[in-house]
Amino acid sequence: MMSLRKFAVGSMLAATAVAALVARQFVNPGPVSGDLFIHDPTVVKTPSGTYLAAFTADNVGLKTSTDRTVWRDAGAAFPNGASWTTPYTGGAKNLWAPDLSYHNGQYYLYYSASTFGSTKSAIFLATSSTGASGSWSNKGLVIETTETSGYNAIDPNLIVDASGQWWMSFGSFSSGLKIVKINSSTGKPADNNLISIAARPSNGGAVEAPYIIRHGNYYYLWVSFDSCCKGAASTYRIMVGRSTSVTGPYVDRAGKSMMEGGGTEMMASHGSIHGPGHNAVFTDGDGDVLVYHYYNDAGTAQLGINLIRYESDWPVIY
Ligand SMILES: *[C@@H]1O[C@H](CO)[C@@H](O)[C@H](O)[C@H]1NC(C)=O
Repeated sequence: MMSLRKFAVGSMLAATAVAALVARQFVNPGPVSGDLFIHDPTVVKTPSGTYLAAFTADNVGLKTSTDRTVWRDAGAAFPNGASWTTPYTGGAKNLWAPDLSYHNGQYYLYYSASTFGSTKSAIFLATSSTGASGSWSNKGLVIETTETSGYNAIDPNLIVDASGQWWMSFGSFSSGLKIVKINSSTGKPADNNLISIAARPSNGGAVEAPYIIRHGNYYYLWVSFDSCCKGAASTYRIMVGRSTSVTGPYVDRAGKSMMEGGGTEMMASHGSIHGPGHNAVFTDGDGDVLVYHYYNDAGTAQLGINLIRYESDWPVIY
């Protein structure tokens, strides 16, 4: 979602200038219709073959689709509020950057509670057997940070590695993105060992929204660089690196470590697509699917969906 973005403004201006000079071409979002307002989307395919999305909204927003193209509002995950998040939100209802997955007959919803520009934050877990509004049981706190932690407990993503071990990446700005082992019985950290997987020490720490997907022999770490939430002036862009281990080290196409600011740019602002970012990836019958938000010319956050193919073990968006 965001944090401490004030530190990144200078570097963002420089990055924007370079991007304008290079004038790269990016694919436009694929066809979608219906209720497309979304921010920080995550999508899971349901056992019946439909799609469930969650996104940043009051009490966590939900949407459904039967065909991955037409989207409908499906209410809030917690229509009666989420009082347990108040210590981190100050009472604001807006809950950020959910992560949906489905395991053992249950939907898992990790999401973040914080305030803009603060690292007093927490990631919580809820589960549901249906995914419907009002069906979610609060499973409590997963991980929290304070104003002095040096990283931020926001933007969770659960990944099950090739051996079946669960992990959660999250963060961040500040000292960057972390990953922690998760006990699949509880959905909570198995130990206190936080492993750093990406950072931008020379760019104000402006990296957040990790999403890890396994494909073939690699784990791909998707992240968002720069500034998320400024309407049509947003500078968010989608970056990727890969590793043969879920805990890294992740490197970009040029071999640069993501701990040193590395990342291969997959999508940045182009035409009427402003600040694309906070992506998720899920696997469908026709391949891996990229979902993200972007701002339209009017400054409204919209759902973007594209497909991913792999060339020489690197993702290509089409
Ligand atoms: C996972 O959590 C359960 C329930 O607390 C506990 O019994 C089990 O030992 C934990 N597993 C590991 C591998 O830590």
